[in-house]
Amino acid sequence: MRVLIFGANGQVGSALKTRLLLVGHQILALARSDRGGDIVDFPNVEAAIQAFQPDVIVNAAAFTNVDMAESHPSLAFDVNERAVANLARCAKAYSALLIHFGTDFVFDGSGHGTWQENDEPNPINVYGQSKLAGEQAILQSGCRHVILRVSWVHAARHKNFITSSLQWLKANPCVRIVNDQWGAPTSAVDIANAVKAIIDRTMNRSDLDGIYHFANSGCVTRFDCVRFIASLLPSNDGQRIVPVDSSTFDLPARRPLNCRLETQKFKETFGFEPRSWQEGVKETVLGSM
Ligand SMILES: NC(=O)c1ccc[n+]([C@@H]2O[C@H](COP(=O)([O-])OP(=O)(O)OC[C@H]3O[C@@H](n4cnc5c(N)ncnc54)[C@H](OP(=O)(O)O)[C@@H]3O)[C@@H](O)[C@H]2O)c1
Repeated sequence: MRVLIFGANGQVGSALKTRLLLVGHQILALARSDRGGDIVDFPNVEAAIQAFQPDVIVNAAAFTNVDMAESHPSLAFDVNERAVANLARCAKAYSALLIHFGTDFVFDGSGHGTWQENDEPNPINVYGQSKLAGEQAILQSGCRHVILRVSWVHAARHKNFITSSLQWLKANPCVRIVNDQWGAPTSAVDIANAVKAIIDRTMNRSDLDGIYHFANSGCVTRFDCVRFIASLLPSNDGQRIVPVDSSTFDLPARRPLNCRLETQKFKETFGFEPRSWQEGVKETVLGSM
């Protein structure tokens, strides 16, 4: 299969390159700095698609700085909506399957249950609004698509909650971590494996197009996640980790409190059981030391 990846240097993009090459797909992986790799540069993006003639386009590029999106909404919408609409248009024009990543942040974080794919989105920050607009652009385009909503993504040697927590633990005698945000830290490696399963199952099955939720199994608060990380570090014995409410930190963007994604639809459709969040986090922690 010919697979064109955008956002090749991000957490998910990097994992995808490795995983999809391993299983024998023909890959063109473009980073923002590559010709045709900046997804807001519509003519060069289309030229890259026309030249490579992909069977599958995977869009791992996104404006992911949640706080910066509040002060730069048009940049967030350029990347997360308008560029995604262009990719969807190209996918339809060149008969490619578009695999795109959505986010738990399309929900408002209310309640204590798991969010299902058909629950009503209600984003509470600009990032979530821009990502929802991207999803809607894909659905309206009529292209073949799988939108995989994922949560709390992490990978070794990238900046994310897990690697930042490691740095805080090493640098400070005491760290304050929010204890009211629930979700499943999800490994970029596992997301790449999920994409492999999607490609294997959906190429000739347009009936499987749609939105799916994917996350490592189980759920945890950010506070308990950091306690788990600390437990993996012998040098951090006695580390003081203090639970606090989200309201303690005056961040530009509000965060949804309940980010639990229901993954049953994904598991049933693709026959794929995600690892536990602990296994994924452990791998990222060990890979970052
Ligand atoms: N990170 C999370 O916790 C999380 C949670 C839920 C959903 N997601 C979604 O999962 C997907 C993958 O996220 P990730 O964690 O891999 O993000 P990431 O590590 O921040 O990677 C995003 C990549 O997109 C690139 N990019 C930004 N603007 C671009 C543009 N105009 N053209 C081309 N590339 C551009 C970035 O390049 P530069 O490095 O040059 O900026 C970066 O390499 C995204 O759709 C994201 O919204 C992420």
